[in-house]
Amino acid sequence: MLRDRIRFKPLLDKLVSAEEAAAYIKDGMTVGMSGFTRAGEAKAVPMALAERARSHPLKITLMTGASLGNDLDKTLAEAHVTARRIPFQSDPGLRKAINAGEVMFIDQHLSETVEQLRTQQLKPVDIAVIEAVAITESGGIVPTTSVGNSASFAILADKVIVELNLSQPVSLEGLHDIYIPSRRPTRMPIPVVTPESRVGLPFIPIPPEKIVAIVVSEKHDSSASILPPDDDTRAIAGHLTEFLVNEVKQGRLGYELQPLQAGIGTIANAVLHGFIDTPFHDLKMYSEVLQDSTFELIDSGKLTFASGSSITLSAEMYRKVLPRLAEYKHHLMLRPQEISNHPEVIRRLGLICINTALEFDIYGNVNSTHVGGTHMMNGIGGSGDFARNAFMSIFVTKSTAKNGAISSVVPMVSHVDHTEHDTDILVTEVGLADLRGLAPRERAAVIIANCVDEAYRDALQDYYDRAVKRGGHTPHVLEEAFSWHANLRDKGTMRPA
Ligand code: COA
Repeated sequence: MLRDRIRFKPLLDKLVSAEEAAAYIKDGMTVGMSGFTRAGEAKAVPMALAERARSHPLKITLMTGASLGNDLDKTLAEAHVTARRIPFQSDPGLRKAINAGEVMFIDQHLSETVEQLRTQQLKPVDIAVIEAVAITESGGIVPTTSVGNSASFAILADKVIVELNLSQPVSLEGLHDIYIPSRRPTRMPIPVVTPESRVGLPFIPIPPEKIVAIVVSEKHDSSASILPPDDDTRAIAGHLTEFLVNEVKQGRLGYELQPLQAGIGTIANAVLHGFIDTPFHDLKMYSEVLQDSTFELIDSGKLTFASGSSITLSAEMYRKVLPRLAEYKHHLMLRPQEISNHPEVIRRLGLICINTALEFDIYGNVNSTHVGGTHMMNGIGGSGDFARNAFMSIFVTKSTAKNGAISSVVPMVSHVDHTEHDTDILVTEVGLADLRGLAPRERAAVIIANCVDEAYRDALQDYYDRAVKRGGHTPHVLEEAFSWHANLRDKGTMRPA
């Protein structure tokens, strides 16, 4: 089995234990690890590293594609290995360390990390640790369930450790399309002209002598922790569907829509799931994470092709999809995240982008990352890459959080990830606000009328009316703009007295 998977035979000599491989990682290094939204991360080497750090402390800068599974971010944070973390995370343990100021987290647009690495604007990667399903005859690395930043990490690093995961199906080979953009300012256009465009190689091309160690592992990817659709997410999907059907009736879209992108998390997944019961057909995705809903839409015959950077599924969906991966293969492609999220390609294909907000304000500015304006949740991820360059930028959220103690629609967002200039459509279970072509005062009227929970609507209208009396293009009562957040901090609720 190993000989089938390591097809460049001299590399068979590089097989070592996870502990031996982890010994290549030294204090102060920058380490680029595979892994994107809990899929395809190196599993054994980081665990061995955390174990070593418990007796022999060391600190690293950890770069990945996005979040890691198997509690790796938690384990590395608890072992005080992670000094700096780039560009995304979603682990409660690491989140705590970030918000305590113990870990420096650089929350970055996911398409940008390797551009900055390539141009030495970030400190170089000393060593890459990449999970693979096989090593080709030429020594190329075949990634597993994600590509993320793995290709550029391996190409740019001095040394590469490969984690060959025998539990990942060999049918993954052929799914990847590794394309690395050329240098700027003489870069040629990226030749992705449809979601299906195959423009690169099915493996990461590196000189095999860079591979210093190969570790065999059999640990599975963690399953996604998304919740099933509920009444609110069904209502959000309903409003969005009705809106899109109307766009078709107005002749602005066809029933095949435009290629779709949907963000991470419970809400975006549920919204996409809702597309099963719609008149739309022959849909395509050009997204970053392929979640359960992608496969449900393929199974229902609604979706013909999905391009992404990772496959992240619930436990039930993993059991269903992985053994049948060969059947799905002609519907799927996995790309480096700088290509799945590339502004040039997003603009060219004209994506309908659906991402999730924590909160938005009366003018349509969106906060996706900071609870109460100060505490990091996960990170901006790819939402900024997509929102700014979308054909249509949609943000969804429930109108309240924490049993109604928090209104997701506030006078002024406590942190801005997506400015009003990057948001076209806002949807809550209450309704939908179409902001296209509207000035700030018009936006406020539409948002307050359509998106706000009734417990907060009068208070928000009152805030706006008083703001308007003060004048301005974007009226505010500045000394009150964050009063709802302050109330939440002081009284445990934003609810008006
Ligand atoms: N203030 C404080 N907390 C809030 C909140 C608000 N305005 N709105 C939601 N929350 C809390 C929820 O109560 C929930 O808390 P819990 O985990 O303790 O139950 C948590 O945030 C997640 O919210 P949920 O409603 O379950 O939504 P989700 O799973 O769809 O996640 C985001 C929502 C915004 C956190 C998530 O989509 C995200 O991290 N987005 C940024 C990255 C991104 O968009 N990537 C897209 C490209 S992949």
